[in-house]
Amino acid sequence: MNEMTPVTDIATNAAPEKAKPALPDAQTVTEVKHWTDKLFSFKVTRPASLRFRSGEFVMIGLMNDPDPKTGKVKPLLRAYSIASPSWDEEMEFYSIKVEDGPLTSRLQHIQPGDEIILRPKPVGTLVHDALLPGKRIWFFATGTGFAPFASLLREPQTYEDYDEVVITHTCRTAGELTYGRELIESLKDDALLNEVIGEGFWKKIKYYPTTTREESPKMGRITDLMRSGEAFAELGVAPLNPESDRAMICGNLAFNLELKDLFENTYGLEEGANSKPAHFVVEKAFLD
Ligand SMILES: Cc1cc2nc3c(=O)[nH]c(=O)nc-3n(C[C@H](O)[C@H](O)[C@H](O)COP(=O)(O)OP(=O)(O)OC[C@H]3O[C@@H](n4cnc5c(N)ncnc54)[C@H](O)[C@@H]3O)c2cc1C
Ligand SMILES: NC(=O)c1ccc[n+]([C@@H]2O[C@H](COP(=O)([O-])OP(=O)(O)OC[C@H]3O[C@@H](n4cnc5c(N)ncnc54)[C@H](OP(=O)(O)O)[C@@H]3O)[C@@H](O)[C@H]2O)c1
Repeated sequence: MNEMTPVTDIATNAAPEKAKPALPDAQTVTEVKHWTDKLFSFKVTRPASLRFRSGEFVMIGLMNDPDPKTGKVKPLLRAYSIASPSWDEEMEFYSIKVEDGPLTSRLQHIQPGDEIILRPKPVGTLVHDALLPGKRIWFFATGTGFAPFASLLREPQTYEDYDEVVITHTCRTAGELTYGRELIESLKDDALLNEVIGEGFWKKIKYYPTTTREESPKMGRITDLMRSGEAFAELGVAPLNPESDRAMICGNLAFNLELKDLFENTYGLEEGANSKPAHFVVEKAFLD
């Protein structure tokens, strides 16, 4: 896991000419998929000793360029939700491409065979342990906030603990929904998942994708669609209540705060944590 491995040049994908500082906690990229000009996903090898709970995040990154004064190189790390389930052999991530972003302006160019840094210390609040038992679980995401739910939608415990799984995903454009939609559609035909989780497990899922800035079958922010009652009517489920419903939220800060307010002040839900399980949990999809 902590093996010291030579840095691969990201731009050229070529081996370094002479010894550069070794990449700590290196993992090898095995697959890269670009979904839009702003979104991509990739898989890397999994450290043999790394255990995590579906829904958690880790720090990943690349080495910075050498400091012009000292020549020293430091890792450039960012928090990333693990998009793959805890039982998977590989680790998947779903990423934004920020044009001037220190990490993602470079990370978006990775290729299979390249190495990234993966610090093997998973943490996070979007875990089943932070919720009390319930009948229905809701996953609320905007943008790349879908990532932890890509993990939890493939986690057997999600279907053992709940009769119904509702996933809402709000994005600006229709193309930004594709990763999530394809992942959910693929669950039906995934022989391994049907065997591991239970035949037909995917029938428990109700998927509610919406867009806000481009035409799609369902338009609007999920928060507005909940307040108007439209989302519940179309999903065929009652509004959330503390007896039956549990929820996880992962989106931009304004979205997280708006939903938290709705949960606490309209539906009477209490926020939980690893140390004190309750009705819902929240995590930022990125720092503003
Ligand atoms: C707990 C946690 C989990 C995260 N999980 C993921 C993840 O699974 N996938 C992912 O792509 N990012 C995730 N992020 C964001 C990630 O840590 C980085 O911010 C992102 O990779 C951009 O890095 P950067 O260095 O290129 O730009 P940064 O300097 O980190 O960000 C520059 C600006 O870009 C915007 N931005 C950053 N990340 C996003 C994003 N994901 N979606 C929309 N706008 C964004 C923000 O306005 C930010 O101020 C997570 C952040 C946190 C706190
Ligand atoms: N994705 C793009 O095409 C794009 C383009 C230019 C710049 N950016 C920048 O990239 C960053 C992230 O963009 P992003 O599209 O991934 O994320 P985002 O701006 O957080 O928006 C994601 C989705 O969440 C919705 N949303 C925002 N606040 C909400 C709230 N309070 N309640 C309910 N829904 C809410 C947005 O709806 P609304 O559309 O109604 O806000 C949008 O559909 C931002 O800093 C943005 O300025 C993104």
